[in-house]
Amino acid sequence: MRRVRRFRFLALLLCMGSAQAVTGYGLAAPALMPQPVFYQPQPGSLALTGGVRVVWQGARPALLDRAVARFSHRLAMLSARDAAPGQSAGLTLRIRCVNADPAMLSIHMKEHYHLQTDAEGATLVADGPAGVLRGLSTLLQLVERHDSGPVLDAAVIDDSPRFAWRGVMVDVSRHFMSVAALERQLDMMELTRLNVVHLHLSDGQGFRVESRLYPRLQQVASHGEYYTQRQIRALVAYAADRGIRVVPEFDAPGHSYAVLQAYPQYAAQPVTTPMDPKRVVRAAMDPSNPQTYVFLARLYHEMAGLFPDAYFHVGGDEVRPDEWTGNPHIAAFMKRHGHADVAALQAVFTQRVYAMLAREGKVMMGWDELIDAPVPASIVIEPWRGSRYTVAAAAAGHPVVVSAGYYLDLLLPAAEYYRVDPLDPQGNGLPPDQVARANAPALDAFTLDPAARMTPELAGHVMGAEAPLWTEIVTEEMLDARLWPRCAALAERFWSPASVRDETSLALRLPVVQSELELLGNRATADTHRMMARLAPDDTTPLSVLLSVTSPVRNYAHNHVFGPSHVAPTPIPRPLDRAADIATPDSFEAAAFARDVRAYLAGRHDLAAGLRARLENWRGNDARLRDMAAGDPALREVLPASALLAQLAQAGLDALDDTPAGSWRARADAAVGMARAQFDASRSLLRVRTMPQPAGDLLQETMPAIALLVQATDQPH
Ligand code: ACM
Repeated sequence: MRRVRRFRFLALLLCMGSAQAVTGYGLAAPALMPQPVFYQPQPGSLALTGGVRVVWQGARPALLDRAVARFSHRLAMLSARDAAPGQSAGLTLRIRCVNADPAMLSIHMKEHYHLQTDAEGATLVADGPAGVLRGLSTLLQLVERHDSGPVLDAAVIDDSPRFAWRGVMVDVSRHFMSVAALERQLDMMELTRLNVVHLHLSDGQGFRVESRLYPRLQQVASHGEYYTQRQIRALVAYAADRGIRVVPEFDAPGHSYAVLQAYPQYAAQPVTTPMDPKRVVRAAMDPSNPQTYVFLARLYHEMAGLFPDAYFHVGGDEVRPDEWTGNPHIAAFMKRHGHADVAALQAVFTQRVYAMLAREGKVMMGWDELIDAPVPASIVIEPWRGSRYTVAAAAAGHPVVVSAGYYLDLLLPAAEYYRVDPLDPQGNGLPPDQVARANAPALDAFTLDPAARMTPELAGHVMGAEAPLWTEIVTEEMLDARLWPRCAALAERFWSPASVRDETSLALRLPVVQSELELLGNRATADTHRMMARLAPDDTTPLSVLLSVTSPVRNYAHNHVFGPSHVAPTPIPRPLDRAADIATPDSFEAAAFARDVRAYLAGRHDLAAGLRARLENWRGNDARLRDMAAGDPALREVLPASALLAQLAQAGLDALDDTPAGSWRARADAAVGMARAQFDASRSLLRVRTMPQPAGDLLQETMPAIALLVQATDQPH
């Protein structure tokens, strides 16, 4: 029998503090993510013994030579065999790039590829260079570790993306991210066939690109953290090598506090230095001042020259009406020109910006507030306040890139995002009570047709989707773990056919894919271990055991900005060094435990010992953590979560023992009930505003499986 151990060992290590092996049943095929359109496993495999010999046919732009060098290096990292070209070749890789593809790095780039692997080697035929890149990423996912050593699985694959725009948005304004950190994310994106990085380069907290025309932007508005023009060019080239487009965003007229600190003459209301935390999310440019447009046109001209992509994002979100109406000059301007409301005034602003970007040859893109009043239909709209805006924007003729439903900073687990389809009919995506990210204006019901539904014709407007990560509470050290593995799940949502929706399969593949990404440079586990070592320098194990089965509270409860524990933003960012900053939204350990519990309840009684060992470890962990916290106040806030984990573990043990119903059952129900109520308290943005959150901001990921074990004792057997 063929045994496949494909990186399960590492996947096991990723389950921090695991006392038991992850039971690997259910994953018979390689963990491909995104799942290809057509995949047919073939008998046999090719032993990976060393180098790669490439046989080229067709177009061979220089970027493909670099791509093959990267591939060889990655193959070596995955297989622990020196795969440098020129080594005695273990793998013959035939590449035929049919066309040099003049549309490369545009929305129309050719990403289709056909891949065949067998005992003789691999053959990759692609319509263009992008297809070669995508095929090489899939080829790496066919590497398996057999008992005899690393092999390449035999398969026939034919694949192309469902959506042309498959993006990740990183907010580098709230927390600056170094070039190295961004390059690492670009590598991960290449490996999962994502193809757009949208950089949110300007917001209240900072402007992040060197400007030669307006140097106060980096001198005053960046707090010393910005990308030089040379760095931007290098980053764009780095992305281009990986078939990834860079779409810059310079948010205006709102979210512009930092810019207005540098150039206060364009502000609608006075802007102060040092930063006034209450005004950071409010300050807006003055749309009645002709000089504002001169400034923006020159700035956008300079920035357009740095970013070669055809698309240019200008934000346009969350303008606070009173920033404009509260200024008598602007109020008079509105009256004089007959602008009935702020949306109408913003439409004028949008028109001006549209014209200046058209002169630059750029396609304008902005958040869904832009359609609160009619604007040119060629503007790309990015719905974020709900999927109903996808329908509204498409119905108004706009191209659409969907981000509603994909806000990674809501800290939901991968499956919740995976469930949301970019073409979901109205009502999915963010529910109506979740529209406000930062006290956003209420939904403007007037622009929305309540009967609107997604139709095939409207769906034709949707170019794709993006996963945004806003970084109010994400430092560079947290970036990998906050993006991955959830972005891999979304890469599949955006690439694979809509029918690929199996969350059980996703859950089995995700740890394997994450372990591969970590072998290839992703730092999620390394970073979380470093953060734990800082919090618990003597011994990270007890904290690691707790955090392996807890996740942070959701829907911005951990931001402490919108919730009951309202903490006003401060100019000095809150340190992001708490347990909930380390805990990840997906617990592989809890997911594996839940799989084993379900299998056990379905008759796999051989799993009982493994379940018991894990439960005993969780129960015993509490005393160890309490001992440590006695001498370390920083750890104390996790003790209630640790105590609840111990109570849940005890409930699971009692259920396994099936002690005749007695006092254990009441205690078990109480523990499960409390853990469930804690999930409930951050189930939506609305709840977060009104419900107290658990101490330490931690949720018990073991709860659903423990509840199953407890309930099962009700069944006669
Ligand atoms: C946004 O989240 N304000 C686009």
